[in-house]
Amino acid sequence: MSLSQADAASPLLNGNLLIRPMRIEDLGIVHEIDGLSFSLPWPANAFRYELMENKNSRLWVAELAGQDGVGMVVGVIVVWLVVDEAHIATLAVHPDYRRRGIATQLLQTALQACARLGMRSATLEVRAGNLAAQTLYRRFGFEVVGRRRAYYQDNHEDALIMTLSPLPCA
Ligand SMILES: CC(C)(COP(=O)(O)OP(=O)(O)OC[C@H]1O[C@@H](n2cnc3c(N)ncnc32)[C@H](O)[C@@H]1OP(=O)(O)O)[C@@H](O)C(=O)NCCC(=O)NCCS
Repeated sequence: MSLSQADAASPLLNGNLLIRPMRIEDLGIVHEIDGLSFSLPWPANAFRYELMENKNSRLWVAELAGQDGVGMVVGVIVVWLVVDEAHIATLAVHPDYRRRGIATQLLQTALQACARLGMRSATLEVRAGNLAAQTLYRRFGFEVVGRRRAYYQDNHEDALIMTLSPLPCA
């Protein structure tokens, strides 16, 4: 289903949002959201690999109930389980649906699930100039613990390494 501006303008959340594991039929819209969200989006087959083949990967989507009752995927989070650390591989919300708490709910669900899976901490890289994402992560308690110089290939921007420990429990 395509995402229309009319849907974006309608009253949202409050029971209309479902965070659920990603499914194969979500690949198209997830790839679209990724492309709208990053200057270096993942290759077309990357989400398929994470979903179907990477046993250490966990993927959730945010699905919004449309006016017709049909769900629309508007956000995605991918986490890699690395020993006892949850690595946030990607997190994105469709541009028309931001600032409604969707990333917060995706992150909350993922971190709680990772805690139940035995993960003790979470880590991620974020562009030094991505203040929106950093603000989101700080609200969860993530702290900057390091910097990778010129980490991003497109503009040689630094990456900040942020970690959270312990993880929030359900
Ligand atoms: C970062 C991103 C995932 C946030 O998604 P979202 O659904 O809009 O986030 P939320 O609505 O849950 O925001 C939670 C809080 O984060 C902070 N925040 C989010 N977007 C912000 C922005 N553009 N500017 C400042 N603060 C922001 C705010 O504190 C916000 O709370 P508030 O709306 O009550 O002020 C989204 O902007 C996105 O997809 N960006 C492009 C991809 C990206 O940068 N991903 C992160 C890679 S590390």
